[in-house]
Amino acid sequence: MLSDKMVDALNEQIGMEGYSSFSYLSMAGWFDNRSLKGCAAFMYRQSGEEHGHMMKIFHYLLEMNANAISPAIQKPESEFKDVKSIFEESLAQEQRVTKSINDLVELAIKESDHATYAFLQWYVIEQREEENLIRTILDKINLIGEGSQSLYFIDKELEAINKAQVAAEQRGTK
Ligand code: FEO
Repeated sequence: MLSDKMVDALNEQIGMEGYSSFSYLSMAGWFDNRSLKGCAAFMYRQSGEEHGHMMKIFHYLLEMNANAISPAIQKPESEFKDVKSIFEESLAQEQRVTKSINDLVELAIKESDHATYAFLQWYVIEQREEENLIRTILDKINLIGEGSQSLYFIDKELEAINKAQVAAEQRGTK
């Protein structure tokens, strides 16, 4: 049985994953409006992934006979300066999620909640991969440069990265 504190913390995490999903959706819209289709596809997929992260916790709570609460989601930012600032914000967002997951793991350890500890390990790995992926994208943006000519190449890179992510998901290695 989960403690009330753990149930509340997991419900908060549902809200955080939901916010991430809507935030990536907002970024996808910004890219799509500018015909940066590779970047948009990457963000639409990220948005879907985050929705999946949210649902995974939702179902875990129900499986543990606890209340899963559909969250109120704050409206995410929809105006952005440029491509790089979007990926910088993505990284900052993932770092906030990582911290929150780590706090949940700490709570599970403190409460000797082995079921939740085991459940959270999937998120620990996922966050490591997500942060690494976005850092790699930022490295590529820095390498390519940010002039208007560069946007085409950045978009192509994102298209390739997104395809690789989709293929990994289909293989079950992601
Ligand atoms: Fe589910 Fe990328 O945080």
